[in-house]
Amino acid sequence: MPSADPAAASAPVFVDAAMLSGPRFAALPPLALYVHIPWCLKKCPYCDFNSHEARGDAPEAAYVDALLADLEFALPSIWGRRIVSVFIGGGTPSLFSADAIDRLLAGVRARVPLSPDAEVTLEANPGTFEREKFAGYRAAGVNRLSLGIQSFDPKHLAALGRAHDADEARRAADAALSIFGNVNFDLMYALPRQTVAEAEADLAAALAFSPPHLSFYHLTLEPNTLFHRHPPPLPDEETAADIEDAIDARLAAAGYRHYETSAHAKSGRECRHNLNYWRFGDYLGIGAGAHSKLSFADRIVRQVRFKQPKQYLERVAAGAPLQEDGVVTREDVGFEFMLNALRLTEGVPASLFAERTGYPLASVRRGLEAAEARGLIERDPVVLRPTALGRRFLNDLQALFLAEKPT
Ligand SMILES: C[S@@+](CC[C@H](N)C(=O)[O-])C[C@H]1O[C@@H](n2cnc3c(N)ncnc32)[C@H](O)[C@@H]1O
Ligand code: SF4
Repeated sequence: MPSADPAAASAPVFVDAAMLSGPRFAALPPLALYVHIPWCLKKCPYCDFNSHEARGDAPEAAYVDALLADLEFALPSIWGRRIVSVFIGGGTPSLFSADAIDRLLAGVRARVPLSPDAEVTLEANPGTFEREKFAGYRAAGVNRLSLGIQSFDPKHLAALGRAHDADEARRAADAALSIFGNVNFDLMYALPRQTVAEAEADLAAALAFSPPHLSFYHLTLEPNTLFHRHPPPLPDEETAADIEDAIDARLAAAGYRHYETSAHAKSGRECRHNLNYWRFGDYLGIGAGAHSKLSFADRIVRQVRFKQPKQYLERVAAGAPLQEDGVVTREDVGFEFMLNALRLTEGVPASLFAERTGYPLASVRRGLEAAEARGLIERDPVVLRPTALGRRFLNDLQALFLAEKPT
């Protein structure tokens, strides 16, 4: 409809230049390194991670060679940047010998500058536990161990098809704490037929070790898993919510801060590597199926490496490990930032949005207004923080920012 105001036709329209061009960074974000090791003793029926049954020995020597070749391939994209943390995840990295991890970390240090105080985490599974191996990882430079315990209850370990029993879990937990000190336990809840009392007993068993960090994951039925095809009898929503409340209360009383959706830590023991993801830092992922997010002066790119271990090894040998490589659009970047930042209980400084996305916070104005109107996010000009309601309905809150077009 034509405007009634004759001046309107010629009135200048002010548009923020940053909205039209690519992102602008005053400084690039901190850079972390993720290393994926894609083998396990056996595939758990609930797991959709890129993990494959080892069936004999995993080809660790060839794989470490490939990882280092992959890192060399990536060097031009991270030139001159320092690595602030390393996470060796899987799969089950503790399938690999201490010598292999030593060669890997020595190779990383020889190729990229690693912060002297870098957190170096390795994921371990009690089913592959040996005390000497843990000591070897520590000597190789691993300074944090993340132990996939899942449950201390033999009945639930069996229902989850785990490759270890409760005694092995306890022995691995003892050794991890005495060798590393800085340890995380992965536990899951809302397990098949689990009651609130059983979940509380599981938590009490974990707290008896007083680990500095605990990750509690709600068991989910992921597509392409055995549990998805043959669902076990899971607790109803109300029981699962009661379990969550009981875990929160007990952990808070024991001095843990629930700092992220699934993560609880004693003061100063938050996982620095994961915090970097949630604060929209950069990460280079090497290894089969690993994801990267890398910022450059004028763009942010996401890359994914070939997923199948055999194909990955071939592609690295051919000097072309990337299956996907694309620029993150302006439409997606605001959503991706909020998706991560809103997982943090304390949220993030509002200024971090522009620092890490390269665009002004106004890019997500509509999402912020909708979230505030629904009481899902706090009305605070300097902090982006979910309310208690926002944390409970995190998916709904995150969806408000989905592919928001800049105004
Ligand atoms: C990549 S796994 C690595 C840990 C190690 N492989 C192990 O299982 O001991 C990381 C964690 O994700 C969690 N996890 C895996 N599948 C899950 C699911 N379907 N629902 C909830 N948590 C899951 C488990 O707690 C697991 O320890
Ligand atoms: S051991 Fe860990 S990564 Fe491997 S299949 Fe089980 S849950 Fe997945």
